[in-house]
Formats: sequence, C-alpha cells, structure tokens
Amino acid sequence: MCGIVGILGKTSTDVANALVTGLKRLEYRGYDSAGMALLSQGSFHRHRASGKLVNLEALQAEVPLVGNVGIAHTRWATHGIPNETNAHPHMTERVAIVHNGIIENHEEFRPALLSAGVQFKSETDTEVILHLVDQALMQGLAPVDAVRKTLEKIKGAYALALLFREHPDVMIGARHGPPLAVGYGQDEMYLGSDATALAHLTHRLSYLEDGDIVVLTSRSVETLRLSGERVQRPVREHRVSQTIADKGAFAHFMAKEIHEQPETIRQTLGTYLNDAKSGLQHPDLPFSWHDTPRVTIVACGTSYYAGLVAKYWFESIARLPVEIDIASEFRYRTPPLPKDGVAIFISQSGETADTLAAQAYAKAQGQHCLAIVNVPESSLARAADCVFMTYAGTEIGVASTKAFTTQLSVLAVLAIAAAQARQTISQGDFQNFCKALAQLPALMDEVLICEQECREIAYQLTKAHDILYLGRGTSYAIAMEGALKLKEISYIHAEGYAAGELKHGPIALIDDAVPVIAIAPSDALFEKTASNVQEVIARKGQVILISDEEGHKKFSHPHIRRLVLPSTSSCCILSPVLYSVPVQLLAYYTALIKGTDVDQPRNLAKSVTVE
Ligand code: AGP
Repeated sequence: MCGIVGILGKTSTDVANALVTGLKRLEYRGYDSAGMALLSQGSFHRHRASGKLVNLEALQAEVPLVGNVGIAHTRWATHGIPNETNAHPHMTERVAIVHNGIIENHEEFRPALLSAGVQFKSETDTEVILHLVDQALMQGLAPVDAVRKTLEKIKGAYALALLFREHPDVMIGARHGPPLAVGYGQDEMYLGSDATALAHLTHRLSYLEDGDIVVLTSRSVETLRLSGERVQRPVREHRVSQTIADKGAFAHFMAKEIHEQPETIRQTLGTYLNDAKSGLQHPDLPFSWHDTPRVTIVACGTSYYAGLVAKYWFESIARLPVEIDIASEFRYRTPPLPKDGVAIFISQSGETADTLAAQAYAKAQGQHCLAIVNVPESSLARAADCVFMTYAGTEIGVASTKAFTTQLSVLAVLAIAAAQARQTISQGDFQNFCKALAQLPALMDEVLICEQECREIAYQLTKAHDILYLGRGTSYAIAMEGALKLKEISYIHAEGYAAGELKHGPIALIDDAVPVIAIAPSDALFEKTASNVQEVIARKGQVILISDEEGHKKFSHPHIRRLVLPSTSSCCILSPVLYSVPVQLLAYYTALIKGTDVDQPRNLAKSVTVE
C-alpha cells in the first residue's frame, strides 16, 4: 500500500534524507514507484522514480533537493501504471500533494477542471484532488479552506499530505480511511502513514480519525473536522524500533520470520498463559462468554484462514456457534447479527479497509467487537471494544507467516477461555489445553527440522502449473493457507480444498503433472483423508503427505513423498499451528527456485488500505 512521510522543520538539517529514510521504513508495505518534493526559495523541487527507492536516491545524489519542508510517497498503483508520471507528489505551482487511497468520484470533476484550463499530466485520481485544491486557492481561499472545500466534494478513501508554495510554514494532512499520524518534534512537525514511518524522527504521535484535517506549522497543531469544528487527538509515545528490521543471516525477511515463529509464539503466549502455564490471563472482556449466542469472525486473506481454524475450535471446544466470512463479502452482505453477539476481527496490520468496514458494520449492529492485531495503535485496535495483541513484531515479508501463527495462538487462548467460561470442558481438559499451548514454542522449533525436505520437494513443485492442497477440519484451513502462500510468492496457481470435496469435481484435475499436498495429522479424520489420497494415487497424481510418524505408519505408499512432523497427540490446538510451517517453507523454497521477489511479490501490498 502507499506510504506517506511529511516533514515541516526548522531544525532538520537534511529533510530530503529524512524523507527517504521514512520511505525506507515503509518499504515493507509494497510499492512500485516513489517520489518527494521539497519547498525552498519560494518554489517546489521534486524527484520521482519508478521502481525501488534506490532509483529515487540516485536522483537525489545527482541533483540534491534542499529545503526544510517536504513530502514524500511510495506508490502502490491503483489508477495508472507504475511509472514516473503517475508517481507522487503531484503538483501545480501553488500546491503539492501525496495521497494514499482511492477517490471513487474523481471522474465527475474532470470535465469542469478541463474546461477551466487544467491540463492533467497523470492518469491518477490524486491529480483531481490537487487541481480542486488549486482552483480553490486561486479563488482566494486559505489553504485549510481550499482543502476542506475539496474534501467535502470527494468520495472515497484518502490519507493526504499537502504543501503550499505561498505558505512555506504550513503542512496540511487529512484522513478518511487509510491511517495518518501526526509526529511531534522539537520545533518540527511530521506526517506519516504510521509510527514506523516516523520512528527515526519522533516517538510522540497522534493519529487522525476519519474526517479529520490537521493544519501544522513548525510550532503548532490544529485539528478540525470537515465541519470546521476543532478537536483534540491524544498524543502518545509509540515505542517502535528506530532500526529498520534487517534480515540478519537470512536471505529474505520471510525466511527470517518463519524461523522467528518459536520465539514470537513464546512471546505471545507468554502474555496469555500464567507463569505456571496452567491458566490463562487476558484483557477483561466487555461481555460474558456464557451469554454469548454466537461468534462472528471476519478477516481477509491469511487472517481469514486463522479465523477459519478458530471456527472449528470455538465450535468443538466451547460449543459456540460461529459464522465466518471474508470482510469484502461481509460488509456488503449486511447480515443480521444476534443481540449480545461477539464479533472477532483479525488483522495483522489492523488497517485492512474491508476489515475496518466490516468492524464498523458489526459495531453499528451492537456486537461486542474484539480485534486481534499485531499493530497496537492500528485503526482496527482503536475502534475495538477489546484488543488481543499478537506479539509477532514487525512483519516485513508481504506473505504473512509469524503473524498468522501468533494469531492462531491468540485464537486458541480465546477458544479455551470461552470453553472454560461456558463449562464445556472439565478443569482437567482446561489445564491440558494450557499445557499443550505451553509446548508450542518447542514443537515449532522441532518442526523447522523439515526445512531441508521442503527445499527438496520445492524442486518438484516449481515444475507444476497447478497444485492442490487437501485437508479436513482445521487442516482444510491450513490447506487453503498453504495454497495462498504458494501462489502469492511463487505465482504458481494453487488451490486449497476440503479433502472430502475432491470427488465432487477437483479430482478431474488430477493427472501425473499435478502435485497434491495432503495435510493430515494422525487425528480422527486421518483415515478419511488417507482414502482421498488413495484416489489421487489411483489417478497418478504426485502426492506429498504431511503427517506425523503415526500417520505415515498407518498409510504409506511407494508413490508418496513424506514430510514427517512431530506428533501432536491429536490435540486439535497444536496441529494447525505446526502444520503451517511446512506449507510456509514449501512456498518459500518454490519461490526461491523460481526467482520471484519473495518479500515483495508482484502486485501485492503488505497492508491493503483500499478496497
Ligand atoms: C497473507 O500472506 C497476505 N499478505 C494477505 O492475504 C493478508 O493476510 C491480507 O491482506 C490481510 O491482511 P491483514 O492481516 O493485515 O488484515
């Protein structure tokens, strides 16, 4: 997703360098071009470049931009191809702008702007905002009024930063949808997409709310609503590491983050398991599980698959009915939700536009809204009734790994806590579940031993054009997650399917060119999945069976490639977390062999802040 950095400084020695550093801290979000504009000696000076930030840095090295006020942007293309012309900032001689979001009604303003003599230079929707503000300035409006008048007309999502040639000590920000933070410095003020973007400049931030406009000078902050009403937003300390995460000894962030999982699960569970590892502790809930008629789980992508695993857990352990949906469908389906229902929103970034919209709908329907997020000050967290944090640390790889398994860890805590509160499990079972959770970090360490085997199997997968993942129960969700991992970083088509559905159509796909990855811990459903694998073998499909020793003993065949994982003693809490690792590694090594951009795959963004 796009990234924004703005600096309004009296004391910043090198604003251009600080802007680029901020963009580097936002690289993990995914982008395809970048740019910056500084205001000095009464005019704007700009560099823009398609591709990676190194290209922008080369321009700055060649012709250094100077000045103590500037805005910068990394663009993830929505309207217009990723090239220099469409890169932000966009400018007229009076105003410069950077934008994250999508303006839905931008076309309706073009005819009037064209007849007013505007010459559009890009294909972007952002340029319409630029010219609407510019026209208002030319009519004599002050900057804040020109921005307000424009924002009253447009529809869609935006986080904006604007500079004004005739007002060198003013920077204006505005937000509706994608987040925007105000940073407080020493006689300096900043705008940034999040705390990470500004961590090298300040830890003191306030976040704008939807519909806010902020007018900054180097010594003042004025926040107002579109109506003109003045508001205050709390300033908080945000302890985000100043150092840009590095890969350490790993070739990619994704590899590092896969290997961090034992520790991130240890960190996360350390918050929710008591010291004796025989009980749970978590934030107070604004509801009683006992009185909860139903749980609704809503998320996108990998976070949705975490929710799907949790559906099985809530239903089987806590006997709680669960409805789950992807946020982009849920928000427009506008489903009736039960009184006193609990809605759980899962999001690594906490900024996914569809998930935020779904949360707003559920709140309006009177649901108790829980957020499971990895970013504490994210929009989803700030709008929730209760926040359950994952402690995965910043996840740089666009393909989510450690965030996913820490989401599962937190969801397991919630399901066990709900079961205890509803007395659907005995005290002994409760303690066994807590002990099982406590084993997870060590078991995750053990699972990583399958890495070499995954690297070898990857050679087989790179030759395929279609790959099927099969599973039952929680393994069905892991099958879909595994397919998503593979397709999003290796660009090979893959599908996750409920193993029992194979004969209802997908079996027609099977031939000797199709690898089928069966995810089958030796649990109560193992034999059922094994018979599906037999059907694949009978049709000469290439089978990779991921199971434990017991499972491989129960079912073996000369045509099966085996991946052996530790036994999970058929504890339904452990296997989805453990079986995530081989599917992550298979995707990683397949992508590595294919030579794709593992950490920033094409067309993808780490945080999808537009719908
Ligand atoms: C996961 O590997 C993908 N990058 C993507 O599906 C992601 O899970 C999805 O966009 C949801 O993101 P969120 O968890 O930040 O809401």
